[in-house]
Amino acid sequence: MDMQLADKTFLVTASSRGLGLSVAQALVNEGADVILCGRNKEPLEKAVSKLGARAEYVVADVSKKEDIIHLIDQIRSSRHQIDGLFANAGGPPLGTFDSLPEDAWYNAFELTLMSTVRLTHGVLSLLKHSASPSILYNTSISVKQPIDNLLLSNSLRAAVVGMMRTVANELGPHGIRINAVCPGYIYTQRVEDLMAQGPPSRKEQIEAAIPLRRMGHPDEFGPFCAFLLSPRASYIHGALLLIDGGFHKGMM
Ligand SMILES: NC(=O)c1ccc[n+]([C@@H]2O[C@H](COP(=O)([O-])OP(=O)(O)OC[C@H]3O[C@@H](n4cnc5c(N)ncnc54)[C@H](OP(=O)(O)O)[C@@H]3O)[C@@H](O)[C@H]2O)c1
Repeated sequence: MDMQLADKTFLVTASSRGLGLSVAQALVNEGADVILCGRNKEPLEKAVSKLGARAEYVVADVSKKEDIIHLIDQIRSSRHQIDGLFANAGGPPLGTFDSLPEDAWYNAFELTLMSTVRLTHGVLSLLKHSASPSILYNTSISVKQPIDNLLLSNSLRAAVVGMMRTVANELGPHGIRINAVCPGYIYTQRVEDLMAQGPPSRKEQIEAAIPLRRMGHPDEFGPFCAFLLSPRASYIHGALLLIDGGFHKGMM
């Protein structure tokens, strides 16, 4: 299937590795241009050399308002429009209600919710010139069923979904599609780091709870997101889509 992504341009944030990079790779594979971002230059340079001439990067910490302003200004200085945004950020730290200080809540608010708010604000004027503008938020399966010891993710990502579902009603009449994806366990550095903080049997425990009995590979995530961002997904709007190997057992 031709996803009709050739020569379109996408901003993919938090993308020097992991899920963000998998989305950037899938978009490039379909002939799109991508703008990556991350906090560190070296991994971004490595990612761009892997992706080739269709990729460029801006160093930006999406938890910081001034960095998002700089990121959008950089894009606007060289482009009249972009066609889509994959809004992604690093994951908030582990912690329970007892263990998390108030500062951790504010940091997670900036990282998880405000990055999404600011990126959405930032791209709207760039998207309005596109023939098929689209936004996709990366959230987590934690919005469907809370994950123990991930209180900040469980709490703040729910706000991102509330925002997505509301903004979908506001942007839909302007032809801008917006959706969110909920990855379950896709094997990345983040998942490896989280597992390293648990018992040695943690990976086996998680895989036993997934009906497909394995974690996903980033290559199983990126193309799905590229499709959702593409004109081929033109009637998918305001949706929360799971990619979790069946990990979420609920009916809805
Ligand atoms: N993998 C999964 O199964 C899974 C499941 C549910 C949800 N998620 C969520 O999906 C997101 C991506 O996860 P991942 O597995 O791809 O993580 P990852 O492998 O740790 O990659 C994170 C990427 O984001 C960048 N990044 C981190 N903090 C950033 C910030 N403040 N501003 C800009 N870039 C930042 C990192 O580069 P720098 O460190 O250089 O900035 C890196 O490129 C996280 O929020 C994670 O919690 C992942």
